Amino acid sequence: MINITFYDTHNANSGERVAGTTVQVETGQSLMTAAVNAGIDAIAADCGGTLTCATCHVIVRPAWADKLPPITEEESNMLDFAASPRQGNSRLSCQIELSPELNDMEVDLPLSQY
Ligand code: FES
Repeated sequence: MINITFYDTHNANSGERVAGTTVQVETGQSLMTAAVNAGIDAIAADCGGTLTCATCHVIVRPAWADKLPPITEEESNMLDFAASPRQGNSRLSCQIELSPELNDMEVDLPLSQY
C-alpha cells in the first residue's frame, strides 16, 4: 500500500495551503482507478481509462513528476482537450501506474474536468 494525496487547490484563496485528502491504495493500479475507488469526485474518468476523454486530468507536484514514466504522444495529444488549462506537470491519471516509489505522491486537481 502507498499513500497518495489529492489537493483541491482551486478552492483555496491565493497562496493558501489547503488540506489534502490522503488515500491508501494498492500499487499496480492506475492513479485514476485509485482516485475513483477512493471517491475523489474531481476525477471523472468518463472513458474508464481508454485515453479518449481527458476527464482524469491531474497536476503532479514537481517532487514526483520526474518519477513518472515519460508522457506519450497519445497522452499529450489528449491532454490538449482537458477542460482546465494544461500545466507543465499535467498528466492523465489513467496513464500513471502506481509503483512503490510513488509513495506519498501529491497531486493537484484541476478546476474542472468539463
Ligand atoms: Fe479517460 Fe483517462 S479516464 S483519458
